[in-house]
Amino acid sequence: MSQTPTRADFDQYMVPNYSPQKAIPVRGEGSRLWDQEGREYIDFAGGIAVNSLGHCHPVLVNALTKQANTLWHLSNVYTNEPALALARTLVERTFADKVYLCSSGGEANEAALKLARRWAHDNVGEHKNRIVSFSQSFHGRTFFTVSVGGQPKYSQGFGPVPGGIVHGEFNDLASVRDLIDDDTCAVMVEPMQGEGGIVPATQEFLQGLRDLCDAHDALLIFDEVQTGVGRTGSLYAYMEYGVTPDILTSAKGLGGGFPVGAMLTTDRVAPAMAIGTHGSTYGGNALASAVALAAIEHIGQPDVLEGVKRRHDLFREHLETINRKHGVFKEIRGKGLLVGAEMASEYEGRAKDILPLAIEEGVMALIAGPNVLRMAPSLVIPEADIAEGMMRLERAIARLVAGQ
Ligand SMILES: Cc1ncc(COP(=O)(O)O)c(C=O)c1O
Repeated sequence: MSQTPTRADFDQYMVPNYSPQKAIPVRGEGSRLWDQEGREYIDFAGGIAVNSLGHCHPVLVNALTKQANTLWHLSNVYTNEPALALARTLVERTFADKVYLCSSGGEANEAALKLARRWAHDNVGEHKNRIVSFSQSFHGRTFFTVSVGGQPKYSQGFGPVPGGIVHGEFNDLASVRDLIDDDTCAVMVEPMQGEGGIVPATQEFLQGLRDLCDAHDALLIFDEVQTGVGRTGSLYAYMEYGVTPDILTSAKGLGGGFPVGAMLTTDRVAPAMAIGTHGSTYGGNALASAVALAAIEHIGQPDVLEGVKRRHDLFREHLETINRKHGVFKEIRGKGLLVGAEMASEYEGRAKDILPLAIEEGVMALIAGPNVLRMAPSLVIPEADIAEGMMRLERAIARLVAGQ
């Protein structure tokens, strides 16, 4: 029998683009995980807003195993029933008329950006190719998406970036007015910046972007890769704002842990993605589609979405209680179960120091930039797990404060 893999194998065999924690979880159930040594953790990280129904949720396990025993993959030379059912459900439940399926958020955004450029090219002309995005935004790791993203560290050192991309300031409409013109084909924005620090867009900002796009015949793209599929307490965050995009991207929680992505758009825009313009071998894969369909149908139930809002209040109350005792946070913010706690000035840049202490205390969390502790747990995390996880988090924070 082969040797059990260890954390040292990561350094030996994997390219060094990540630096994972020491513990290797081997099993998960609901919002709890167990590592190789049998230590148990409460999961407030949710695989970075992916495990929308926790670990091994029976609804997803059933969908996956049923499909695994039926049909896995065909490629786009054929279509398949799960992909068609998923596309129909996404259309029925959103503004969209048409769907493109792929395997990740970066791929969904790549498709969205290419579609916007191609739509403008076909309908207006080559010159209408400018893309407006925002500082601190994050849209994925393909070269187009890191270039559109507003964090230069992700595109530096890889050679010339594609042209025609400009960045305004998030929640600052005046900065967009200075950048947008009739040569703009698209404005891409997250309704709540995730990697950029859990910063919700204001109502005026999103509505203003819609109006500016309409005035300049540009497409409004909402990147809901992190905020979508119930994460904020609505099926998609745009629904809370009442501002409708022309293109929306979804991934992460859509598959509940199975890699899948989707780009949603309208009948006005979709024809620009004509035969041969874009594609993916795995897009619309039967296994991925079956799981995503089960996830969206389950999460889209009113009581599940209501539960997300209720749990948000619990997270906030617990974090405020911790903060009253320890004074480590400047602000607690977010929506639904995408919650951020910005560090107080005394602890500036030290959110990452909480993570290993939290792991030692038995709770997994995330950061969003150096200054924000982020939580993105299962949308159905039991209230007892929230309480227990918060006790563990408090012990970690007490240790940070004590300088241990
Ligand atoms: C808003 C947003 N867009 C896109 C992505 C990229 O998604 P993926 O890592 O699945 O390519 C992420 C990932 O963090 C994200 O938060």
